[in-house]
Amino acid sequence: MDIRSIGVVGAGQMGNGIAHVMAVAGYEVKLNDIDGEALERAMTLIAKNLDRQVSREKITAEARDAALARITTTQDMAEIGPCDLVIEAATEQEAIKHKIFESLAPHLGPDTILTSNTSSISITRLASRTDRPERFLGFHFMNPVPVMSLVELIRGIATDQPTYEACLGVVEKLGKTAASAEDFPAFIVNRILVPMINEAVYTLYEGVGNVRSIDRAMKLGANHPMGPLELADFIGLDTCLAIMNVLHDGLADTKYRPCPLLTKYVEAGWLGRKTKRGFYDYR
Ligand code: CAA
Repeated sequence: MDIRSIGVVGAGQMGNGIAHVMAVAGYEVKLNDIDGEALERAMTLIAKNLDRQVSREKITAEARDAALARITTTQDMAEIGPCDLVIEAATEQEAIKHKIFESLAPHLGPDTILTSNTSSISITRLASRTDRPERFLGFHFMNPVPVMSLVELIRGIATDQPTYEACLGVVEKLGKTAASAEDFPAFIVNRILVPMINEAVYTLYEGVGNVRSIDRAMKLGANHPMGPLELADFIGLDTCLAIMNVLHDGLADTKYRPCPLLTKYVEAGWLGRKTKRGFYDYR
């Protein structure tokens, strides 16, 4: 399978990063969102992040201009369907993801590979609702996408080998490294990382430490680049809670119980950096 064009559905935090790295690697990218303003914001951010790479001499100014020229934005699913590979990178809600694949269905090319950047939802279940479960894969990037070198590739029960290999080829062309994961709740990275974050929220909830001391402890005591609460704000507290719920429901083990304080912050709309308030105040 020769992959040349990539459709990205969802222009948020992950979607714009995925469009960015795909365009730098030479793919023609169509970036889709139902919200026109989200598309404008995404293009502004991609340009800013590309500029940052130029100033750090990671890419040349010519490569930046060529990458920007390879990205087109669209609110129309009909333009996304014919791409060789589609990456769904919408919000972490299963019903929304099913709806996106349903609205893509009439426009899909016969060989289009469908993938989801879901951070925790069953690939087998998402694939089963499409007409091509054998050409469906989990394609999970880490945030910030231009910086993080890992992509988790998750096979659903029906995913075929050519689909896996085609996606592995894309990961290699991006200059990133793949980790293959089986389709169980939250896969590898989030199965380990998000319960650690949830435990940090419990540590705060129980008064063991305050926000800064918890983060300082893990940065200086475990050499993590960000403290767990800072990282939660960075990922989005709604995403962290959604992942804990997938683990709790899917593995039926109380050790995955979301911390009530995490739930409370999400109910308050304090979702971290994206709403300018989470464990830290960004206003
Ligand atoms: N686009 C392009 N480049 C970027 C960037 C972006 N969005 N964000 C940062 N960078 C670059 C910077 O330009 C800089 O480049 P150089 O090394 O060439 O100087 C480099 O990344 C480091 O950035 P900064 O100097 O600004 O800041 P930093 O040293 O504090 O690092 C960080 C920032 C890379 C985000 C670092 O704090 C880090 O690695 N944090 C942990 C991130 C992490 O754990 N991500 C995984 C989250 S889990 C996930 O994503 C899975 C999920 O499903 C929830």
